[in-house]
Order: sequence, then structure tokens, then C-alpha cells
Amino acid sequence: MSASTQHRAHRWPQPLPGNDRKIWFGADYNPDQWPEDVQDEDIRLMKQAGVNIVSLAIFSWANIETSDGNFEFDWLDRVIDKLYKAGIAVDLASATASPPMWLTSAHPEVLRRDEQGHVIWPGARQHWRPTSPTFRTYALRLCREMAEHYKDNPAIVSWHVGNEYGCHNYFDYSDDAVQAFREWCRDRYGTIDKVNAAWGTNFWSQRLNSFEEILPPRYVGGEGNFTNPGRLLDFKHFCSDALKEFFCAERDVLSEVTPNIPLTTNFMVSASQNTLDYDDWAHEVDFVSNDHYFTPGSWHIDELAYSASLVDGISRKKPWFLMEQSTSAVNWREINPRKEPGELIRDSMLHLAMGADAICYFQWRQSRSGAEKFHSAMLPLAGEHSQIYRDVCALGADLDTLSDAGILRSKLSKARVAIVQDIQSEWATEHTATPTQHIREWTEPLDWFAAFANRGVTADVTPIHAQWDTYDAVVIPCVYLFSEEMAERLRTFVRNGGKAFVTYYSALADEHDRLHTEGWPGLIGDVVGVRIEEHCPLGTLFPGMLDHLDVSNGTVVHDLADVIDAIADDTTVLATFEADPATGMDGRAAITVHPYHEGGVAYIAGKLGRDGISQSLPEICAALGFELDADPRAGDVLRVVREQEDGAIFEFLFNRTRNTVTADRPAGDMLICSLATDSTDKVTLEPNGVLAFRR
Ligand code: GLA
Ligand code: GLA
Repeated sequence: MSASTQHRAHRWPQPLPGNDRKIWFGADYNPDQWPEDVQDEDIRLMKQAGVNIVSLAIFSWANIETSDGNFEFDWLDRVIDKLYKAGIAVDLASATASPPMWLTSAHPEVLRRDEQGHVIWPGARQHWRPTSPTFRTYALRLCREMAEHYKDNPAIVSWHVGNEYGCHNYFDYSDDAVQAFREWCRDRYGTIDKVNAAWGTNFWSQRLNSFEEILPPRYVGGEGNFTNPGRLLDFKHFCSDALKEFFCAERDVLSEVTPNIPLTTNFMVSASQNTLDYDDWAHEVDFVSNDHYFTPGSWHIDELAYSASLVDGISRKKPWFLMEQSTSAVNWREINPRKEPGELIRDSMLHLAMGADAICYFQWRQSRSGAEKFHSAMLPLAGEHSQIYRDVCALGADLDTLSDAGILRSKLSKARVAIVQDIQSEWATEHTATPTQHIREWTEPLDWFAAFANRGVTADVTPIHAQWDTYDAVVIPCVYLFSEEMAERLRTFVRNGGKAFVTYYSALADEHDRLHTEGWPGLIGDVVGVRIEEHCPLGTLFPGMLDHLDVSNGTVVHDLADVIDAIADDTTVLATFEADPATGMDGRAAITVHPYHEGGVAYIAGKLGRDGISQSLPEICAALGFELDADPRAGDVLRVVREQEDGAIFEFLFNRTRNTVTADRPAGDMLICSLATDSTDKVTLEPNGVLAFRR
């Protein structure tokens, strides 16, 4: 496995010769879905909207290599030439995302298998297995042909390698995967005894005598049958690594031929679904790019801000590229709401405020056939006389304003609070034999992000391997897996004056998903100052079961509470549970604060949700000595600041509510005003409104 622990040097797609550097603005462009004469209109409308880059040929393998070894670049050359002449740069795909029919017909052994051994047939996309030697040979040959053919083409400013690795082929249980998983285990553990120890195989007679006995977590019989958790966790890690290795092989072919063209692949970072270990993948790209699709309803703005902040954390505050988002509805949810007026611009501005130097969409022209025909685009099927296209043009003008004002390369300013995100804990908490299936690692960090936003604090979302221990305060939200190393980091952080908010369901298990002994939170009981023996799941599954727990500060816990059975002498109890005494929960500690050397730790022993956390924050923060804005309306507006090296400050204001809100006007010149008004000392923002200032 070609694992690096260092990021590659950050390299950004450079402007076309003679052009100034601007915010990249554009979309996936699929001209091969249309007659060639549509291209002139595409380019005219792109120019009119301010589009300066397109991602090309992502799904064009079948049109480029029309049969085994027969490459037809003419059509692609012609459209690239037209784009270049119009001043539009190309983020060129390796074109390997989805194999052509001739390939899978001749080589069905490249098709992935599901956990029951079923073949995943062609008909959708990404049906290949990353561990197939045959598929690798074909994909790498295409990469080489693409690189050789386009190495001197000045239109190409970056490589778009593959597409959303793992979106559809994350899990593969084929025989190739079996071999590769065995090798991965050999690399990680060295001896089979260590595998046995990590996976706890003395349980249920699962002991392995050799690496040849290792299987991936294939189907074990459905509901009520529980697969080995240690093996499952390792398999998820392996799947991320197997795809990463495949990406690296493609990347290495491309960069061997075109060493000067920066490369990326589009991640899928969001609050709810971080398929791969993107913080690990980020080591392998020249610049981070992300695809983000909005969550309809009341989580829209907070989930977007959270995800974008996490991408910024993954990119370590270096400029990143928003590769895809939707102008309006997607087509892949059960119900696909459109965007409300203002959201097209607001969403792009929020990504930008959080550190994106490129704002792109899926896709340029809406498809009229194929599985994505109902997916919105920059140019709807309705044509240029449409609200979406008018908004796209307005956005293009706004991005120009920001480019001219010098925003490029400025950095999202460091927050006071870091919220830790841990993909391994997310994976581990997905196991199906747990105290409750209603706890997922990812809901808790999002609740904390929103709760801090309610109190006027825009937090940074920080991957667990990033520098969260350089902030004033850190949130450890359901970080279920805790290694000795993590425990020591937290201990050192708090000892030196850091403030930590640690929640229920943290530090339950070690990095192999083996539970810690001697009470929870494991390894950090001395820092946290509480000890938990059992959990108290809550819900309505059984008549008469405990559904929720009231907390003495007026909040309510749902889904899960800890049974704290001991607290340290110097721990202060800020709030207790209130319940029928027969439950044994009445009067037990719900929120505590423990001083530790120069710092302190708050422990939150149950799922309070966004509103409960937000309501509890003033008291917790006061006890920890962390200052909060006293204004109860501070959370109406989300403030995000980017700082330029020369000292210029870009401040963005977003309305987080469904009402028109008023806020103090930041100093400086107004740059962006969408659904808002600006006056001498106050500004107002309508729902979905945004303002940006420069000083
Ligand atoms: C059954 C099995 C035990 C154990 C328990 C757990 O009774 O026989 O091995 O799995 O369920 O509830
Ligand atoms: C993903 C893919 C795109 C497209 C969009 C639709 O992000 O990368 O090709 O399918 O989803 O939302």
C-alpha cells in the first residue's frame, strides 16, 4: 500500500496563458450527450455566465476508447479547442470512472461482487473492482493514452482522476478483494496471532490459523447475525485503502507523463456520509476537491457549513475546489426538493467563505436522457430564459467581484473551537450490535457545530489527525474509538490549559473496536473525572420503556444516556437527570465539569441534540472559563471570515433563520449583497440572504 503520512505539495490549477487568476467557476461538461452543434450555444452561454473551467470526459471512456485499444480523440480535441479559444480551461478527466460495455463483456472478471456474491452488472456505473489486475491494466492504459495525447495541450489545467471513488464500488467482496484483503492484513499485522488478538477471534470459534483463512465480511445470514466488529472495521479501512491505491496508480501514470499538471479527485465529504477516509486520501492529491449536495429542510445551512469547514480542515486550510453541487434539485433522493430563491447564490458563497477558491456544479447542461434527466444543472432543459440560468449569471458576476477584491488564496480564519471528526469512529458505530442503533458518530458533531453557531461561534470542524489541540477548546463528540495516543493528546491538551467538551459514547473502545475495561470513558477517566459502567438507551421500541430523560437544566436527553456511577472528588455536577426513581436514573450526573491541571473538561452524559446543547452551553462554558457572546440573537447570523496574507479581511454574513434578521454592519466595503440590505450601521438579511464585506 503506498501510504504517505505527508501531504503532497499544494498545487493549484493555473489560469490559461494570458489570463488573470480568478475563482474557478464552472461545471462537469458532458458534450458527448448532445449533437456537436449544441457546443457553440453552450460556449456562448458559458461565457455569458462567467464560466471559466469545465470538467470534461468524466464518463467518456466508451466514446474515447471505442473498442479494445482503438482510441478516438477527434471529438474531444474539437471541443477542447473550442473551449480554449473561448478562454475556458479544462479540468480533464482520466475518463476511467465507468468502463465501456466491450470491456466488461470481454472481461466479466472486473465486475465487483456484493456481500452475497452477486455480480454487480453493467447498467449503472462504477461497477468495477479496484483490486482487479485486468481492470487496472485497462484503466492505466487509458490514463497513459490520455496523458500522452493531451500533454502539450494548453487548455488542460488539471487532472480529474476517476470520479467519486467508492460512491458505488466502496465494498467489493470478490475473490480479488479476498486476496488483497489478506495482503492488507499481512501488511498491517505481520502475524496471524496479531490479527486474532485485534479481532478477538477467540469469540465464537473464529480463530484463524493463517492469513489464507481470512475472509472479508461476506454475508453472514442477515438480521440477527452479527459479523465480527474488528474485522468489519478493518475491512472498511481496507476498502478505502484499496481504492486509494488504485487512484495512486492512475495518478502516477498521469503525473509521469505530465508532471506539471496538478491532480485531484473529487471527495464526497458531508456531515452524514464520509464513505472513504478522506483525511488520509488528502495526502495523495495536489489539491483537495469536494462534491457536496445540500440537505433539504432545516439542516440545509448548518450541514453545508459543517461539511465545508470539514473540507477546509482536510485541506489544512489550503484553498480547495468545490467540484460539484447542484443548482437546484438532485434526482437521487426519495423526494428531491428544489432550492429556494437565494439558495443557489447563498450556498456557493458559504463554500467560498469556508475556503473554496473554485465553485463548480454538476453539471453544465441538464441531460435529457439517462438516469440523471431530472437533475438540475447550470443550464436547465428550459434553456437560458430560466430563473436558474439567471441566478447562475448573477453568481458569476459575484465571483468576479470577489476575485477582483483579492479573496483568492486567503484562508478561513482559525476558530476558537475545534470539533473533532473521526471517520474510524463513524465506521465503528455503524456496527449492528450496540446499545442502540440510534447513535451514529456523525450526528453529534453536527449538533455541536449548530449549537455553537446558535451562540454566535463558528467552529472549525477538524479531522482527528489534524491540529485540534492548538485551539482554545475542543469538542470530542461520540469519538467512540480512543487509542492510547489519542488519550495522551487529550491529556496533554487539557493539562496545558485546553478546554474540552467530551460527550457520551466517547472512548468506549480501542482502535480495533475492543472495549476498554475499568469503566468508560476508557483511558481518560482521570482527565474527565467521571466513570460509567452501563448505558441507558431511550426510545419507544417497547411499550413502557424509558423514552427520554429530563435534565435539571430544562433540557431533555433522547436515545442514549450514560449511567455515571462514580465521579471524582473535584468534579462539579452542573445538571442531573430527573426520572422515575425506579429507573435508577433520577439524580444521576448528566453534565459535569472537571478541572485538570491548567484546563478543564466538561462531560455531557447523553444526547441533548442541537437545542439542548445550545441551551446548556452558557453554563458549561462559564464553568470551563470559555467566553460566549451574551447576545441571545447572536446565532441568527452565521459569520465566516477569510484572512488574506496582506491583512485584508473578508467577512461573510449568512441568515440562519427563516425570518428577516438585523445585525451590526461589519466595517469595510460591501462586496456581495443577495436578499439583503446594507445601511450605515445595521444590515438586514432576508431568509437565504448573504452579505460579504472587505476591510
Ligand atoms: C443466545 C446464545 C448466547 C448469547 C446470547 C446473547 O442465548 O446462546 O451464546 O449469544 O444469546 O443474548
Ligand atoms: C455525483 C457524481 C455526478 C452526478 C452527481 C449527481 O456527485 O459525481 O456524476 O451523478 O452525483 O448529483
